[in-house]
Amino acid sequence: MHTDCRAAAIQLLSTIGLALSSAGCPASAGDASPTGTATAASPAPTAAASSTSAAGETPSAATASVPGTVASSLTSTATSASATPTASAPASASAAAKPSVPGGGPIKKPRTDGWVEGRPFIVQDEARLAPIVATSTWTAKPLELTLCGVSAETREALIDHFTFWALAEHASVASFGRFTLQLLSLGAPSHLVAASARAGADEIRHAELGFRFLEALGHTAAPGPLPIANALADGRTLESVFRLVVRESILGETLAAVEAAHVVPFIECAAFREELRALAEDEARHAELGFVFAAWAIGQDPSLRLALEQELAGFTLPRPRACVGVETWGVLSTEERQRVHASAHKLVIVPLCERLLAHPAEAS
Ligand SMILES: [Fe+2]
Ligand SMILES: [Fe+2]
Repeated sequence: MHTDCRAAAIQLLSTIGLALSSAGCPASAGDASPTGTATAASPAPTAAASSTSAAGETPSAATASVPGTVASSLTSTATSASATPTASAPASASAAAKPSVPGGGPIKKPRTDGWVEGRPFIVQDEARLAPIVATSTWTAKPLELTLCGVSAETREALIDHFTFWALAEHASVASFGRFTLQLLSLGAPSHLVAASARAGADEIRHAELGFRFLEALGHTAAPGPLPIANALADGRTLESVFRLVVRESILGETLAAVEAAHVVPFIECAAFREELRALAEDEARHAELGFVFAAWAIGQDPSLRLALEQELAGFTLPRPRACVGVETWGVLSTEERQRVHASAHKLVIVPLCERLLAHPAEAS
């Protein structure tokens, strides 16, 4: 089965594009995105974003935009972190070897061998997951599904996939819990703190959905103790929080959000389809939060655009965990997932990161 995820990608691009405009990060005049020229000319900050909006301000010399840099670095990331620096961007490879961001330190390439779908909980370059235990502590409300007709082979494939899926959602709870603390430590505006707290609650529901589905399949499971040692060690500065957000949200959650939205129409069971439709909407909001935070952070410190370039240059599209495609239950094959992720990268992450790189600083 070969599916086209462009509709899901363009929808997400449009949604996040509007949010960035409201956050004072308008599309450039030449932006070909659906939100491009329509929003660039007259960005209308929302009440939520007004406290950080820089719309209408004139970039200073120190915050001059660096348009057109991320596409080249991103398109080369599939193979290497040694992207060729462009004339307008002194960031990429040379900067990765000798960072000029204050407090930057050596740039490590994010690990993708143990890639966790969705928003991972990254601690010291590794995505952490809880172990699985055989209890029903995350399945208080049974999922009403009709599973008759599901073969034993399909059932095993679904249990395998959704066990990992549920644990990944559970890890996202920790990621947002940490992000909320980090936002507070940075003195971030209330709309970002509130959005992060709400997203953490969303992730609890997502994890519960996964474990409830496993129980409906006759497989009782729950997350065991999640290792949280050193979880706050990485994010004590604006730059280090920013880098985590790029990895966990801008990259991880954007890929997951497009995949989630794309797979919904293929699900045959109406009740499960509606559960995953709601989840996909949550994930789109979570990805949006990552970009809106990044716009706020760059507004505070324009040198973070260099950190963004470094993170993007070090990113390689991950090979998803091997899984059997069962589209009627919301599971794409490994190959199909790779295609969806590549499209999400090209159609959503690249153009939106271009906008972030051109984002002006807040007025001082
Ligand atoms: Fe989630
Ligand atoms: Fe999420």
